Amino acid sequence: MMFNWEELFDDLKASPRTRSWCEELEKESLEAFQPDNNGNLARWQAAFHALGEFQVEQVSLSADAVTCKGEVNDSKELKKTLLQLKPWRKGPFQLFDIFIDTEWRSNLKWDRLSPHLELSDKDVLDVGCGNGYYGWRMLGAGARRVVGLDPYLLYVMQFAVLRRFFGEELRHYVLPVGDTIICPNLRLFDIVFSMGVLYHRRSPIEHLQSLGHALKLGGELVLETLIIEGENHEVLLPVDRYAQMKNVWFLPTLALLERMLERCGFSDVRVLDVSPTTVEEQRSTEWMTFESLPDFLDPKDHTKTVEGYPAPLRAVVKARKG
Ligand SMILES: C[S@@+](CC[C@H](N)C(=O)[O-])C[C@H]1O[C@@H](n2cnc3c(N)ncnc32)[C@H](O)[C@@H]1O
Repeated sequence: MMFNWEELFDDLKASPRTRSWCEELEKESLEAFQPDNNGNLARWQAAFHALGEFQVEQVSLSADAVTCKGEVNDSKELKKTLLQLKPWRKGPFQLFDIFIDTEWRSNLKWDRLSPHLELSDKDVLDVGCGNGYYGWRMLGAGARRVVGLDPYLLYVMQFAVLRRFFGEELRHYVLPVGDTIICPNLRLFDIVFSMGVLYHRRSPIEHLQSLGHALKLGGELVLETLIIEGENHEVLLPVDRYAQMKNVWFLPTLALLERMLERCGFSDVRVLDVSPTTVEEQRSTEWMTFESLPDFLDPKDHTKTVEGYPAPLRAVVKARKG
């Protein structure tokens, strides 16, 4: 089976409080995978069905590269199939002797935030989860269940492939929907992650409000986003592109981010980390052959983007709902 959504839907439908929301989630998820929605879908699904034969003997969700060991029938053929699902942005992954060297070394971000997390037995939502790299790491750190949302179908297909290797029985789900699926007062999750999404949203306040709606009272938000330096309540709204990205909207100072969170009903805002993104962390590889951060920075001055804006600086903050 390509996806394991049914078991999640069954769980959610069992409670009268989440039943009607679940119906909406199910409808949108199934619609997203209608063949007319994406001309590449058939090719990606063919790759899924061409993974070949393998036997997984050991899985490590806690390694920097989420890993499976065992026997594979034809590893050259498997690598070719996996390369058909390019670009691989978030990872890395080690499948037998194949190292999926993704654009992002996502383990570096995980290393910065995981010492501050208590995930044991927690019900987690990861909004904008990509192919689910962090979800595997969260399960490795003891989470009870991880639900990821990402509207980009290729990443959902990459997740479907990875599940085959890391464990189809695990309670890790990635659904092809965005943050707008979260309904008011859902109050379902102990911890909600939003990493690398806020600056892509035209309405950052609505994004924060929806994250709040997903949380149980007293639940915890882990938010990672691009910020700018400064003491004041200021925001950078790029004239056009930022680091070549067309879809970047609001980059606040930490002071403004804190105020935004408080206005959206969060308290106890704590800054866990502030780090510049480096060309060691984000770069092109065999698995993501488009341009990457080294091409998006001013070649003479890596403190600036090619457009002359401050180079990417990322903050991770934690906040409590209510
Ligand atoms: C910069 S990536 C971050 C991925 C991952 N969370 C990380 O931190 O590495 C942004 C992700 O958000 C997804 N995304 C874009 N709009 C979204 C929305 N409205 N709701 C949820 N995810 C969204 C994109 O498809 C992409 O996978």
